Amino acid sequence: MTRPKLLIDCDPGHDDAVALLFGARHFDLVGVTTTHGNSSLANSTRNALALLELGGIDVPLAEGFAQPLVGATVDAAHVHGKSGLDGHDLPPPTRKPIDAHAVDFIIESARRHQGELILAVIGPQTNVAVALKREPKLRTWLREITVMGGSAAGGNVTPAAEFNIYCDPEAAAVVFGCGVPIRMVGLDVTRRTGFDDADIARLRASGRRVAGVIADLVSFYLARQRAVFARAVASMHDVCALVPYVDEALLETDGAIVRVECAGIHTRGATVCDVRGARHLTVPPVRLAVRSDARRLIDQVIDTLLNYP
Ligand code: RIB
Ligand code: CA
Repeated sequence: MTRPKLLIDCDPGHDDAVALLFGARHFDLVGVTTTHGNSSLANSTRNALALLELGGIDVPLAEGFAQPLVGATVDAAHVHGKSGLDGHDLPPPTRKPIDAHAVDFIIESARRHQGELILAVIGPQTNVAVALKREPKLRTWLREITVMGGSAAGGNVTPAAEFNIYCDPEAAAVVFGCGVPIRMVGLDVTRRTGFDDADIARLRASGRRVAGVIADLVSFYLARQRAVFARAVASMHDVCALVPYVDEALLETDGAIVRVECAGIHTRGATVCDVRGARHLTVPPVRLAVRSDARRLIDQVIDTLLNYP
């Protein structure tokens, strides 16, 4: 069975790191683009290149925007550390980004793989929003957009907003309003879907190089999740946007109309998810993840990571 074609737009980020390694194993990964988000664009790019080299993943990487469409840049150094990927000093990457902007690379990849390309957006959505504005044909060229972002019930960076949406609400409003089929995997599912101490120990006990590096990284990330969110697991937000293409049964979805709040004083960046049902469906519904088999999902991810050398 041919693997689905995938492009990942990301802001590595510890959970992005796991998503990149998972995506490269289960999809035909055509490329990676980087954005501001968990850390600076420069850190996202360096981290992504270093992770691709760690996994021996030879795909093009194009750098994107360093700031949101509107407003100040936000980061998550309190969760991911100053480098954006604290916990293990990866060797500096030997490769560089390609000589094209992420926006142009997304458009060119969608044009080349019309109707086949899944676009995974697992950071702030600035690159994808600008690509949709610059090339309206993307709306028909893309097979689907799978988003890690938002939530139907409460945020993480504010009481109302999830981090990826909060970083660039105007961009998210463009993406959720673009008409491409969207799968939204938000905090409702990803908060409690993560690695615990036993998962980290399993990675470390394998004696495999990549698994050992991920164990170091996730140990740091889990300590921060405990300190900042009093969470018992290291939430693997981003890979949850990819796993349904490998095993649809691991995530249950509901149809929702999703609108992004851009003006609220206390609610800017909130995703307002309307699940009231058919008579309110004014536009094609988003597939909103509402439940996950978290243990089986994480086991699937750990098994994949253990496949690396
Ligand atoms: O809120 C979680 C999201 O914000 C994840 O994508 C994480 O990597 C950060 O970007
Ligand atoms: Ca991310």
